[in-house]
Amino acid sequence: IKETKKKDFLTIAEYSPEEIQHLLNEAVQMKALQKKGIPHPYLSGKVLGMIFEKSSTRTRVSFEVGMIQLGGQAIFLSNKDIQLGRGETIADTAKVLSRYVDGLMIRTFGHNIVEEFAENADIPIINGLTDTHHPAQVLADLLTIYEHKGKLKGLKMCYVGDGNNNMCHSLLEGAASCGMHISTASPEGFEPLSRIVQGAKQIAEKTGSVISIGNDPIEAAKDADVIVTDVWTSMGQEAEAEERLNKFKAYQVNEELCSFAKDDFIFLHCLPAHREEEVTANIIDGPHSVVFDEAENRVHAQKAILKVLMESK
Ligand code: CP
Ligand code: NVA
Repeated sequence: IKETKKKDFLTIAEYSPEEIQHLLNEAVQMKALQKKGIPHPYLSGKVLGMIFEKSSTRTRVSFEVGMIQLGGQAIFLSNKDIQLGRGETIADTAKVLSRYVDGLMIRTFGHNIVEEFAENADIPIINGLTDTHHPAQVLADLLTIYEHKGKLKGLKMCYVGDGNNNMCHSLLEGAASCGMHISTASPEGFEPLSRIVQGAKQIAEKTGSVISIGNDPIEAAKDADVIVTDVWTSMGQEAEAEERLNKFKAYQVNEELCSFAKDDFIFLHCLPAHREEEVTANIIDGPHSVVFDEAENRVHAQKAILKVLMESK
């Protein structure tokens, strides 16, 4: 990680495979310290601002808890309350907040919004989910898979569902970074954005990951070590919910689909989930599911991001 200039965390792809590995190592170490009750106040006296333009349970609480465990504090800023929601510019908001806080986490719609914050702020900007990327979640997913499988390189991940969303995009980049193979299956017209697939394939060339984008859930699930899905209707797409319900029916993660995976596959979902839509209850609540480890790991993975970006050098 460059130490000369402030660094943001907007996508997985802007970090090298070595840097992603470094973040995972930091997360493993701090998780162990936390479990043993050993204080690790790397961000003592530091403050993280957190702007939310969309709802959140996990992201809000895990970032706030992470800052407290690191000896700092976090401030929740709803766009309903701050002047940004009344039209104050992103540039002015970024410049003002840079004078108050040491880092800023943002959950918003267009990815260009976090990029504009990053360009105008003097402090690290952390992506807490945009329409096209959810990198903090995927770092937690990689940590979870590593904990359950003991490795990442060479595993096969299967992603079934909406390919053109934040989770699928960040998983493509995350799998590529870690040398994990990834096969996606989405209805026609809901494939991942090709520029993100191309970027992931470039990373994959270096790491040996094989990326396959398709429309056949069975093909994607065959011999998978990890099965992942996400909601069919993401935040901001509510008007399309009914149409999506029909188009995605054949892309449910259920017992039949999982029978094509390895016997010891694990199931991940970033949550919130809709039982009997994208995943059946017997899978998400069954023995292969690691969704609550995954949710817990948001804290540990994000502490690594916060430490690496915000610790005084
Ligand atoms: N997975 C996730 O980001 O959850 P929240 O929307 O609750 O933050
Ligand atoms: N794809 C989902 C993820 C929620 C954490 C959404 O954007 O709503």
